Order: sequence, then structure tokens, then C-alpha cells
Amino acid sequence: MQEKLRWMANLTLGAVVLTGLILINAPANADNTAEATYKAKCAMCHGPDGKGETAAGKTMKVKDFSSEEVQKMSDADLTDAISKGKGKMPAYKTLTADQVKGLVAYIRSFAKKS
Ligand code: HEC
Repeated sequence: MQEKLRWMANLTLGAVVLTGLILINAPANADNTAEATYKAKCAMCHGPDGKGETAAGKTMKVKDFSSEEVQKMSDADLTDAISKGKGKMPAYKTLTADQVKGLVAYIRSFAKKS
């Protein structure tokens, strides 16, 4: 009887650990999209639509990503601003080159929407 209880307890523990692992892994994969990264790390200043109409964005006078001023900047300029920082814009040193590339493409996509 005791043996069976212990067996059941182990089984339950195993299921809990497994569910936990699945839960931890699922959002991590979803977070890899440029859109998710942008919403998590950039939208608070640049706004979900890239227009920078957030409290922080207005205070720091961020430029509208859909504007010609930003869109005429080269990919290298945008990449540098993200990975090295620019003025009040924090540097995102932990982002991989691919993530930054994705973010640059995402910033470019704002131009087409307006
Ligand atoms: C704390 C607020 C803040 C956050 C968070 C932030 N930015 Fe910025 N960002 C700024 C400011 C302020 C500038 C303008 C810097 C300047 O021109 O002096 C800027 C400038 C830029 C520029 C250059 C274009 C320009 O207007 O000169 C790019 C590209 C950019 N940000 C992308 C991003 C991306 C991508 C993220 C997320 C990974 C991000 N930013 C997160 C505040 C922020």
C-alpha cells in the first residue's frame, strides 16, 4: 500500500514537472518573433504602432517610426541605435544580431501601414 502511494506521488510530481517545463518553453518560443520582442522591450517608449505616442515617448521626444525621417535612416543606423543605444535610447546588448535584424524589419513595416 505504502509502495503504491509513493509510486503515485512520484507520478504526480513527474507530471507537474513536465507541465512546468512545457509552460516555460512555450512562451519562450513565441517571444522570439520581432513583434513580441518589440512589444515587450520597445513599445513602452516607441508605442505599439511605432508612433511614440506613449507617456515615456512624449517625454523623450521619440521620433515616429513611420515618418520619413526615421525611414530614410539606413539599416546600419537603425541597427546601431538598437544595439549600441542613442541619446536616451538604451542599448540592447543582449539581443542577438538576428533579433536586431528582425526589429529593424519590424520598424520598416510601420512605414507601409501609414
Ligand atoms: C526608455 C525608452 C526607450 C525604449 C525602451 C526604446 N527606445 Fe528606441 N529610442 C528612444 C529614444 C529617446 C530615441 C531617440 C534617440 C535620439 O535621437 O537621441 C530612440 C531611438 C531609436 C531608434 C533610432 C531612430 C531615431 O528616432 O533616432 C531606433 C531604431 C530605436 N529607438 C529602436 C528601438 C527598439 C527596437 C527598441 C526595443 C528593443 C527601443 N528602441 C526601445 C527611447 C527608447
